[in-house]
This record gives sequence, structure tokens and C-alpha cells, in this order.
Amino acid sequence: MSLNRILVFFNFHFFFSFFFLFVSFEIYVRTMGLEYLDLYLIHWPVRIKEGANMFNLAEGEVLPFDIHGTWKAMEDCSKLGLTKSIGLSNFSCEKISQLLEHATIPPAINQVEMNVSWQQRKLLPFCKEKRIHVCGWSPLGAYGVLWGSNAVMESQILKDIATSKSKTISQVALRWIYEQGVSPIVKSFNEDRMQQNLQIFDWELTKEENVQILQIPQRRVFRADSFVQENGPIKSVEELWDGDI
Ligand SMILES: NC(=O)c1ccc[n+]([C@@H]2O[C@H](COP(=O)([O-])OP(=O)(O)OC[C@H]3O[C@@H](n4cnc5c(N)ncnc54)[C@H](OP(=O)(O)O)[C@@H]3O)[C@@H](O)[C@H]2O)c1
Repeated sequence: MSLNRILVFFNFHFFFSFFFLFVSFEIYVRTMGLEYLDLYLIHWPVRIKEGANMFNLAEGEVLPFDIHGTWKAMEDCSKLGLTKSIGLSNFSCEKISQLLEHATIPPAINQVEMNVSWQQRKLLPFCKEKRIHVCGWSPLGAYGVLWGSNAVMESQILKDIATSKSKTISQVALRWIYEQGVSPIVKSFNEDRMQQNLQIFDWELTKEENVQILQIPQRRVFRADSFVQENGPIKSVEELWDGDI
């Protein structure tokens, strides 16, 4: 590998049974020529059948999830030196509490949807109290993505703030997340937009601007309805998110 390993942060997600957790590691990590990961995450508090497509799940492809067994396997990965850190993604406060009952290594992070139109008002203080760092996916509301929303990038509130500060809407959206102590994980395939998204560290939002951002209506962009099945272990999106919806 020609890249300097120290300068690259490798984060993988794992989805299937906890046996598959080690298989996933071998498939994804060893074939890339890596010795270790920087961060390994449980992608969802959900288990799906090996090989299933999370966006198009057939009846019976969502299986019961063993929260403690899975975390124990993650801890084993950490103890074996396969990954520097282990963490969670899309876990609610209730599911984190359940996991912490038996954890010997606490999760380093919880990677969840976070943007001005889903501000994680319940989860964020909880994770801060538990010293679990939050990373925010879809910080621009997955703008232009098939399942995404325009609630962030076409917000009049953000537009007005951006104009008054000579910033772009995406910069205001990302700066707001950063000021909450959260690491936004923004995606762009465009070099100019990548550069633009990085210019958020040498200015700040005012108290008044923060108050305006609090007025933005709240709704998850991605509710993960595809995991809900009449005869499966998850009967409703409320159950998946433990009511935080
Ligand atoms: N853990 C999880 O369960 C989970 C779930 C969803 C997503 N994620 C991860 O989170 C990351 C980002 O999320 P996301 O891709 O869903 O949403 P996002 O970062 O909110 O939005 C990406 C979209 O915004 C556009 N964009 C980026 N910068 C822009 C700018 N400055 N101005 C205008 N448009 C801009 C991109 O288009 P261009 O590429 O054309 O710039 C792309 O269409 C991804 O790496 C994804 O893998 C994780």
C-alpha cells in the first residue's frame, strides 16, 4: 500500500451475525492488505440474514439480534488487536444502556443520523454523559440521494444565515454540527465541494443563529422502515428507535 497508514482512518461497519463479524473482518480488511482497523462498528442494532440487502429485505431476512453476544465479539476483536476502537451505529439511548450492562469495553462512538433537521436532542446529551463520541451521518440530509431530503440544503433559516455570513448552506449545516461536539461525516464526490465542506473551522455561529436553527422542524430523514416486518423481531419503527422518532 503506497498511502501512509498513519494518515488514513479506516472505519468499517458490520451487519450480520456475530460469527460473521470475524468473517467480515477477514474479507474486508485482510484483502485490503491492512493489519488492523481504526474503528469497527456494529452498523445497526439489527441482524439481517447473510447476503441480504438492507434496502430490499424479504420476509424472514430480519433475524433476532443478540446485543450482548455481538458486543462480546466486538470486544474480542479489540483484544486481538484487529481494531484500535470499537463502537456503535444507530443505537438508541435504551439500547446503549442495555449494552453497557455487560460491556467490559465501552463503545468509543455512536454513529447516527444528525443534521439541523434531526438534531438528536435526546441521544446527544445521553452519549455525552456516557462519554461516547457522536458522529453524524447525513449531515446535509443526504441531499440529492434517492432516500434523502432537502430539509437541510433548502432550509430558509440556513439560507438566511449563510447569506449574512458569506458562507454556503452546507458550511452552516456542518459548522452547527461541529459546534455540538459532534463529528459530521459528509460525503461528496466533487473536489470543490469537498474543499468547501472543510472550511468550517475558523468562524462560528452566533447565539441568535443557534436559536434560529432550533426552530427547524424535526424529522428523521432515514427511519429504516425496511427492518420492520409483521412476523420479524422488529414490529415498528418506534420499537427500532425506542420511541425516539
Ligand atoms: N452508519 C450509517 O448507518 C450511515 C447511514 C447513512 C450514511 N452513512 C454515511 O454518512 C456519510 C454521509 O452521508 P450521506 O451521503 O447519506 O449524506 P450527506 O453527506 O448529508 O449528503 C451527501 C449529498 O450531498 C451532496 N453534497 C455534499 N457536499 C455538498 C455541498 N457542499 N453542496 C451541495 N451538495 C453537497 C453530495 O453530492 P456530491 O457528491 O455531488 O457533492 C451528496 O449527494 C456517507 O459516508 C455514508 O456512508 C452512514
